[in-house]
Amino acid sequence: IGKKLIYLPSCHSTNDIAAELVLNGLAEEGTVVITDNQVGGRGQRGTKWLSEPSQNLTFSVILRPKFLPVAEQFLISQMVALAIYDYFSFYTNQVKIKWPNDIYISSKKVSGTLIENAVQGYGISSSIVGIGININQTRFETARSTSLAEALGTTLNLQSEFEKLGGLLDAGYLRLKTMKQNQVIRDLYLKGLHGYQNSVKFNYLNERVAGVVTGIENSGRLLVKLEGKEGIYDFGLKEIEWVWD
Ligand code: BTN
Repeated sequence: IGKKLIYLPSCHSTNDIAAELVLNGLAEEGTVVITDNQVGGRGQRGTKWLSEPSQNLTFSVILRPKFLPVAEQFLISQMVALAIYDYFSFYTNQVKIKWPNDIYISSKKVSGTLIENAVQGYGISSSIVGIGININQTRFETARSTSLAEALGTTLNLQSEFEKLGGLLDAGYLRLKTMKQNQVIRDLYLKGLHGYQNSVKFNYLNERVAGVVTGIENSGRLLVKLEGKEGIYDFGLKEIEWVWD
């Protein structure tokens, strides 16, 4: 990952540039598009990803996981979340994965991932893994965001942080592609997951209730057992959401 690196001083969204490369047949596996100033960063569910110029890591990795059946595509999310989780765990033990693939330090978001897969037949022909990691930024639009520098009280070198992360992503992808350690990836992801086998608060139909994450289906659906309610709830549903205290 990153042997072919495309650096852009400024761009709209690295995921969009990566998608163009894929469309034009110019995207070998492992190609990385990275920028210092992403002005139209996209987040999950149509949100925006804001990142101060030259403070953070914003990049997209192009993968070609043709070996992975569509039904197993959540493994890419899990592998990537795990690599970023491991990266932060090197610095602090306050790290949690928030389903599906956000990373939090001390209940504040420090990283987000936007994965866009293209399907061909039963396999995945390309996966654009867009990663935004707050490294040195200190002012945020919301109180729910943080950066590694804020958590540690010291700034970091972007280049060397990118290299560390690249190494972890490489190792994670190898685990998936060559070693076929699908179950290992799933188990390690669960270990880092906020609320797994551990009571946390949810908003359920505008009511605050305690609940426990009981597992994740291979499709990626999160399963939650709410206190005092019968049955397992599927987190894909609108009526249930996280609450952070
Ligand atoms: C989220 O938390 O909702 C996902 C944020 C993903 C942001 C990254 S930054 C690099 C890549 N390019 C984008 O436009 N988005 C992703």
